[in-house]
Amino acid sequence: MRENDRKKTIQVCCGPGCLANNSLALYHKLREIIAKINADLTVETLVKKTGCDGLCAKGPVIKILPEDVAYYQVKESDVEEIVEKTILQNKIIERLLPRDAVTGRRIKSPKDNEFYKRQMKIALRNVGVIDPDKLSDYLERGGYTALKKALFDMTPQEIIEEVVQSGLRGRGGAGFPTGRKWKQCAGYQNTPRYVLCNGDEGDPGAFMDRSIMEGDPHSVIEGMVICAYALDSHTGFAYIRDEYDLAVKTMSDALMKAREAGFLGENILGSGFSFDIQIVRGGGAFVCGESTALMSSIEGKVGEPRAKYIRSVERGLWGQPTVLNNVETWANIPVIINRGGAWFSGIGMPKSTGTKVFSLVGKVKNTGLVEVPMGITLRELIFDIGGGIDGGRQFKAVQTGGPSGGCIPGELLDLPVDFDSLAKAGSIMGSGGMIVMDDRTCMVDVARYYLNFLAEESCGKCVPCREGIKRMLEILNDIYRGRGQAGDMELLLEICDAVKEASLCGLGKSAPIPVITTIQYFKDEYLAHIRDKRCPAGVCPELTTFVIDPDTCKGCGLCQKLCPAGAVSGERKSVHSINQGQCIKCGNCIDSCQFHAIKVV
Ligand SMILES: Cc1cc2nc3c(=O)[nH]c(=O)nc-3n(C[C@H](O)[C@H](O)[C@H](O)COP(=O)(O)O)c2cc1C
Ligand code: SF4
Ligand code: SF4
Repeated sequence: MRENDRKKTIQVCCGPGCLANNSLALYHKLREIIAKINADLTVETLVKKTGCDGLCAKGPVIKILPEDVAYYQVKESDVEEIVEKTILQNKIIERLLPRDAVTGRRIKSPKDNEFYKRQMKIALRNVGVIDPDKLSDYLERGGYTALKKALFDMTPQEIIEEVVQSGLRGRGGAGFPTGRKWKQCAGYQNTPRYVLCNGDEGDPGAFMDRSIMEGDPHSVIEGMVICAYALDSHTGFAYIRDEYDLAVKTMSDALMKAREAGFLGENILGSGFSFDIQIVRGGGAFVCGESTALMSSIEGKVGEPRAKYIRSVERGLWGQPTVLNNVETWANIPVIINRGGAWFSGIGMPKSTGTKVFSLVGKVKNTGLVEVPMGITLRELIFDIGGGIDGGRQFKAVQTGGPSGGCIPGELLDLPVDFDSLAKAGSIMGSGGMIVMDDRTCMVDVARYYLNFLAEESCGKCVPCREGIKRMLEILNDIYRGRGQAGDMELLLEICDAVKEASLCGLGKSAPIPVITTIQYFKDEYLAHIRDKRCPAGVCPELTTFVIDPDTCKGCGLCQKLCPAGAVSGERKSVHSINQGQCIKCGNCIDSCQFHAIKVV
């Protein structure tokens, strides 16, 4: 037997998506069976829990090394067969291999899968590979070597210069240059200084930061310690979204292990430098992720933003110089210190260097977590990595940047994904949410959905945000219900201007973006609602009528079967019809008809 056949590792993804699909049960069952096999000494197999693999829609994911086989949508009932065939006999179980979204062929190894092929992992370098609970796993992959280099081979100024040279811009939303932030903070003489991590991640559907904290917590800790050394800070806080129990636990365990190993706490690695990090659970509101609200919340006050006449680098937490960076920003730091700022700035675009992690979700075939070099086009992201639009429908728009991001239409699919190009198109990078929408999406309804979220999350401290968002939502609700009037679009844009200009914090300032971009790129759809009292996507119930096209209907009866209201009638193999009086406009029929025989009129 060859050496390779005797040593195997089974990686079980225990990221949020796979955990929700019972991956922990797979892990325990594998361990139980493998424990028996290891006893007979023919195959030495290690079963490992890892963070998020990325291809969440196809989980639970199990990878087998060194063969580099990945099985998807694995069930507990598959476990014995995996051990019997793949571990003991090196045989592949075809049905557990994923299919290529375009060719439909089965793919054995992740390296042949388009979803992974085009990615470049820097921030996610260890996520899905290491066991986040094992410091030894992190160390094996070069963990804490950057900290050693920073402490013993670099001066604080050299560390800051390296980060400046990298061109790294904050991954939490605003894209402020990280090196410049550190440099400004280091320029203020008053002490103590604080180093903070923003792990509040309140964007609906986003899980980039969660995956890093749960899958590779030491990369965040290492980044923070390096910054603290550069700024001579001795106290740090990691502010983590309250709902993220697993992230809190994983980070707490990692902090404890880092302390025990001398990477954190008193006299780090014998350097004489001391720094420690405390976890603070988030205040439970989206606005608590905003920098000044976050600092208030850590101070034990209500998590409300304040005016930024004086920046946090000068007077932040408890009025002291403070650096706040996002989880993903921190995870990039150790790599920048090890490989150099010049190396990092060679990746991506001149003004948006490095990579960015996105949660690619919505009507795309491969949903999940992806990390790509900045500058990749939307088309590459959605069609090559994402595998295109699900269910044979047409692409309509992609929403980037979280709840206050913009909707970008099909004409702009070749737009490079970087801070400046997205801003030029009227949207934002935000923290990396990317929601793909198909032709069954109503853009008035989309704007309405986000404004509804923002109206609920506005802290209400300033009038333009509190009242402006509410008023915009009322107008959008009217349009949605068929009560739109001529002049509504103009009025919406006027309110957008006021809210953007006069709101106190980023929530209010960016809240108009979903409204502005949907009006800018989908004006005809607004007009159809307001003037023609029609919703072309067939979403707004009061403006939608579904009919069956007699020339296309094959009489398969699927719509009849799926209609919850019993509104569809017709004999098998003959044309069906919809009773408009009974139809509740749920859309089941149009979404399920394989012949596209149901139309919106
Ligand atoms: C309403 C609102 C919510 C925010 N939520 C987050 C968040 O959850 N996580 C985050 O990193 N940044 C968030 N930000 C951005 C932060 O204010 C801040 O710019 C960021 O944490 C700085 O880190 P970075 O430079 O590494 O991006 C939010 C901003 C606003 C206006
Ligand atoms: S802009 Fe909105 S969220 Fe921000 S302080 Fe004003 S009311 Fe609060
Ligand atoms: S929209 Fe829903 S309720 Fe109306 S006919 Fe189709 S399936 Fe039935």
